[in-house]
Amino acid sequence: MSFKAKKIKKIYEGKVAGRYDLPISHMFSKYKKQAFRDSSLKIGDKVLVFCCGTGLDFSEILKKIGKEGKILGIDFSREMLKKAKEKIEKHRWNNIELIEADVTMFKNDNNELFDAGICTLGFSIIPDYKAAYYNLVSKVKDGGEIIIGDMQLASDWYARFNPFTIFLAKRFGGSFEGHQNSLEIYSIMRNDLKEVKKKEFFLKSYYYCIAKK
Ligand SMILES: C[S@@+](CC[C@H](N)C(=O)[O-])C[C@H]1O[C@@H](n2cnc3c(N)ncnc32)[C@H](O)[C@@H]1O
Repeated sequence: MSFKAKKIKKIYEGKVAGRYDLPISHMFSKYKKQAFRDSSLKIGDKVLVFCCGTGLDFSEILKKIGKEGKILGIDFSREMLKKAKEKIEKHRWNNIELIEADVTMFKNDNNELFDAGICTLGFSIIPDYKAAYYNLVSKVKDGGEIIIGDMQLASDWYARFNPFTIFLAKRFGGSFEGHQNSLEIYSIMRNDLKEVKKKEFFLKSYYYCIAKK
């Protein structure tokens, strides 16, 4: 693992896990909800969630895929996964599996392909974000859906707020470079995928993109 990736891991193995849900739900839950509503996730879907963290997205995903569906959540922080496990136990969700792994290298043993691949607030803090992105896409069926939500650099008039939004993201591993990488991810999605939809929020510093493989 690179020095930069180790630094990110250290952040999420530290105090952040215990103080994560409140500020992040407060800032992003309405945009994330909208993304899942906009998605074509359906009852019975099998969904791969990269950088699942404390499992903040699970309840919205489950509303779409139901008890018949399945979530496989991947994250490299044991502390974040501990919180996700607590949520799973509290809600008695029995169709979620968690794996501690680096999403840039994660391999599923059975080579199963998923109906959808999701990553929220992940790629913008991963130094090798392209490896993580291509890995996610490779594990989704042809015709399946990719759902990405993340911080990004805003442009035009909104660019003046970039220093502020990057400052807010810093304690979660955010950076100018990471926010810039999101623009590259979107451009790759536009080139490689189909039916690409993008929406922007929060001074254009948060976006979601939904597309078909
Ligand atoms: C900002 S949190 C996002 C969590 C969740 N998706 C959400 O929106 O609340 C970023 C998560 O990505 C994880 N992460 C960062 N780099 C990773 C990597 N290379 N492999 C696996 N997990 C990673 C961190 O451990 C952390 O849980």
